[in-house]
Amino acid sequence: MTSPAFFVRDLPIYGTVILSPMDGFSDLPFRLICRELGSAMSYTEFVNVDELAVTKRRDAKCWRKLEFDPVVERPMTFQIYGHDVDRIVRVAQCLQDLQPAPDIIDINLGCYVKSISERGAGAGMLRCPDKIETLFARLSRELRLPVTGKIRLGWDEASRNHVENAKRLEDNGASLIAVHGRTRAQGYSGQADWDAIAEVKQAVRIPVIGNGDVKTVADIARMRAHTGCDGVMIGRAAIGNPWIFAGKDREQVTLDEKIALMRRHLALNLEFYGPERGLVLFRKHAARYIAGLPNEAELRVPLLTASTVAEFDRLIESTLAPLTA
Ligand SMILES: Cc1cc2nc3c(=O)[nH]c(=O)nc-3n(C[C@H](O)[C@H](O)[C@H](O)COP(=O)(O)O)c2cc1C
Repeated sequence: MTSPAFFVRDLPIYGTVILSPMDGFSDLPFRLICRELGSAMSYTEFVNVDELAVTKRRDAKCWRKLEFDPVVERPMTFQIYGHDVDRIVRVAQCLQDLQPAPDIIDINLGCYVKSISERGAGAGMLRCPDKIETLFARLSRELRLPVTGKIRLGWDEASRNHVENAKRLEDNGASLIAVHGRTRAQGYSGQADWDAIAEVKQAVRIPVIGNGDVKTVADIARMRAHTGCDGVMIGRAAIGNPWIFAGKDREQVTLDEKIALMRRHLALNLEFYGPERGLVLFRKHAARYIAGLPNEAELRVPLLTASTVAEFDRLIESTLAPLTA
């Protein structure tokens, strides 16, 4: 086996490109596909500690988000968020004792959604470096597992404090920092600031993962060269093109490969979510897999409204398969 690209505390990471945590997208089926194509570690979608704390049923939605494949998905990171330090620590302690157990607990310090950030969770924590310090000091003292954080650059342009927050994370036991190069106020507007990611990398000794606006295979190398980061996290560009983890841009993927992967992704969804929900939740991926195909316009509505797997298969057979001949 090749040597590790970097370590999360004592955990070797064999690769530098990683699927971002994405609510509604980075579920078990999609993560499996990305891992098979080369994503070097797994992050769950973010999960609310308030929900986990009060929901005991293991088949509840929030608990299902923490299911993973213990064979394919090592190392496995559970990403959680909350505003209450005590509750985050208690829930994290409980999560590390699950079977199968994750390898890493990550705290979301970047979610910009109002209902979350304005309550002091997600990016809301970026305004309170003291709270970040208290939280990570406790997590690193009270958990066996390594603890990591995913940040944005700050609350808004006037209060960018990524370097301070990164240092506080490191000084209080964080084993890795992922940095999305935007502020909370930016949401997804503007350009991710890769200079700021470089500033974080310069400021700490723990590994830094750069994130934001990596859209092509060439961007992966550009991000690493520009920032010096240890790894690169890809979110939106992986949806519809998980082959980016195998070093292929969208236009390099053949239609045969697309059809085969859509079928596999749908099958994984059906297995994980059951026939109805599995198909419904696959639609948003299907829309992205077919983006840019010559008959996208013709296929889009029927594919996104297909109500049975048989109907879905027939559409692929009649509309896409002939194009491969
Ligand atoms: C639909 C969607 C859901 C997201 N959910 C999460 C999440 O659960 N946890 C998190 O840390 N970031 C989340 N993000 C942010 C991404 O992880 C990433 O930081 C951001 O999309 C920038 O990277 P990109 O330019 O490669 O997409 C989400 C992004 C999108 C588009």
